Amino acid sequence: ETVEWDPEQAGKGEYDHFMLKEITEQPTSLAQAIEGRVDPTSGRIALSDFEPGTFDDIDSVQFVACGTSYHAALYGSLALNQAGVQSAALLANEYSVSAPPIDDDTLVIAVTQSGETADTLNALRRARAEGAATLTVTNVVGSTAAREADDALFIRAGPEIGVAATKTFSSQAVMLTLLAQRIAGDLRGASAADLETLLPELESMPGRIETLLDESDADLIAERYRESQSYFFIGRGLGYPVALEGALKFKEITYEHAEGFASGELKHGPLALVTPETPVFAIFTGQEDEKTLKNAEEAQTRGAPVIAVCPDDHPAVAAADEQLAIPETEPDLAGLLANVQLQLVSYYAADLLDRPIDKPRNLAKSVTVE
Ligand code: G6P
Repeated sequence: ETVEWDPEQAGKGEYDHFMLKEITEQPTSLAQAIEGRVDPTSGRIALSDFEPGTFDDIDSVQFVACGTSYHAALYGSLALNQAGVQSAALLANEYSVSAPPIDDDTLVIAVTQSGETADTLNALRRARAEGAATLTVTNVVGSTAAREADDALFIRAGPEIGVAATKTFSSQAVMLTLLAQRIAGDLRGASAADLETLLPELESMPGRIETLLDESDADLIAERYRESQSYFFIGRGLGYPVALEGALKFKEITYEHAEGFASGELKHGPLALVTPETPVFAIFTGQEDEKTLKNAEEAQTRGAPVIAVCPDDHPAVAAADEQLAIPETEPDLAGLLANVQLQLVSYYAADLLDRPIDKPRNLAKSVTVE
């Protein structure tokens, strides 16, 4: 008698899917990402991956990326803008026709989990050819993008098997948050103001995600709204890339229609789609939350159920129909906690629909054609 042994099945351990395993791994993967790279006691970002002064001569930053990595890039770009450095996040597949001007004071950062995405490699090569300094932020040591850029920063998330990116997004976003502070520090001669609160908060993230995972009601929310027609996600500031990522994850694995919007854009068109059959997930990160709440209430007035993703004592809790709770933290990091709740909602919604969660139709983990 032989025992069937499927290495993939074995790799999943106690989990039904790699995606859930990888969502659950985030406390560990984030701890690995920041290990040795921050020094909360001195309030410094170590990031010894780069020599002191590496970024002294940069005057603007362009991020290039696709898919989930683009959402992390947008997160990083907003963090840089908020730290006073000019930056933009650009879709790598649009770059050849729409790149802003590049000179040798431009730093182009390729964000790519695999380091092998053709669109992103093309953008990186174009930037190099035009004389930009280049840097790759990736999960894969020895990948093409890591080898071809001047420098590489590794996110250390460990292998990700699920086609839908989860733990690599949170590690990318955290590393880009750190990198943004480091670049702003090199350029402006001083660290951005609030590192003394940001770094200890960053070190608390693994524990906060642990708590969130233990207490999440995402399965109940997925069940309650399983008959809906479309799913909308809204956020402002650093909540905006999280809204885009929440919607991308949802469509990738449930095959249901989902869209992410900047909260303030809802009234400029998408509101026409809002009905009682379109739940709205509203992400609160502590950046002009009162405006986001107003936008969510505009949807609620049209009958849409609103699910507030926010801490327990937040004003949105009373106003919304439901809450997905996130621990209290800094605005720079709150979106990452919200993202974990939204990953879980997508996962449970897809599971109820019996989708092949780890291998969604028509999608590949790494796309090596243009
Ligand atoms: C594919 C995957 C996405 C991923 C994108 C970019 O489309 O299905 O999950 O976000 O490629 O991949 P990269 O390896 O460059 O981050």
